[in-house]
Amino acid sequence: MASTSLCRRIAATCTRTATLPRRSLASSSSRLPFSSAASQETSSSPYVSGPTTHFGYESVSINEKEGRVRQVFENVANDYDVMNDFMSAGLHRYWKDELLRMTGVGPMSKALRRRASMKYASDLNNNNDDDDTIDDSKALLSILDVAGGTGDVAFRFVDAANCEERSKSSGKDEVNVTVCDINPEMLRVGESRARKRYGSALFDETCALKFVEGNAQCLPFEDNSFDLYTIAFGLRNVTDVDMALRDALRVLKPGGRFLCLEFSHVQNVPLAQLYDIYSFHVIPKLGEVVANDRDSYQYLVESIRKFCTQDELVTRMKQLVSKV
Ligand SMILES: C[S@@+](CC[C@H](N)C(=O)[O-])C[C@H]1O[C@@H](n2cnc3c(N)ncnc32)[C@H](O)[C@@H]1O
Repeated sequence: MASTSLCRRIAATCTRTATLPRRSLASSSSRLPFSSAASQETSSSPYVSGPTTHFGYESVSINEKEGRVRQVFENVANDYDVMNDFMSAGLHRYWKDELLRMTGVGPMSKALRRRASMKYASDLNNNNDDDDTIDDSKALLSILDVAGGTGDVAFRFVDAANCEERSKSSGKDEVNVTVCDINPEMLRVGESRARKRYGSALFDETCALKFVEGNAQCLPFEDNSFDLYTIAFGLRNVTDVDMALRDALRVLKPGGRFLCLEFSHVQNVPLAQLYDIYSFHVIPKLGEVVANDRDSYQYLVESIRKFCTQDELVTRMKQLVSKV
């Protein structure tokens, strides 16, 4: 079972989940005493002035990065899912399944649904005339998948929570999943995949699934709105990671959980060398051949190298929590 253990090792180096404890937090993230990592960098390029950050190995101004990242995902949106399978030989599915397992959405939604149907039955017995539909703001489990792109992670939540089966009954679903992404093109591909997969009941009747355009740094949601926040392969693309972490904390309810699935740095030296060869020689070539776009995949590879290590990310999260 060499391949299984290799998968496990790669998954372990690529995955870091963390639970951020909750606090009461003012809604304006700009008021929080946490400086931006991005703004602390200075450019070595004579063409870039002012605060800078990285776009892959390039140094760019902070204002420029968001547009460049947007362009990358606009370019890759149509081929994104096929390319994920090619680049990772299907491994991304395993990582996302692991993320789902760690969230506990499957067992949790089962328990919540059981409780909701028991309450419904007891209300009927007691002739309680209360409206039996559950309004959106009172969903028992609200999940937000940020940088959710074409919906891969969200579909896992929808399936684990059996939302399709639930959509055969009336009323709003007790579980709702929101995909939020900055890129309308990725969302368009995601929503059309979702409609093909589930039909329209999940959107129009039970409201179990939504696609919303928004920036992880200033999410278009109220404070204390979600029980679970996930971000898969998205955090490293965000210009100001600390700002995104702060906003995650803001939209999470007390006791809510934050889980991040992200590439990071391979610790094992021989494996790291192999991984480098594969990343820099094979992935951009695959991008060129399969998606006719070498540059976007070169960026993806470089952005992984420029992202902080697992331990650094955990330190940043802990600092953030200790300062609020
Ligand atoms: C590599 S894709 C990951 C998509 C999906 N989570 C998955 O695992 O398949 C990265 C996504 O992050 C989104 N993104 C980049 N910057 C963002 C930001 N500031 N706020 C929200 N989404 C962002 C991109 O548009 C893109 O859809």
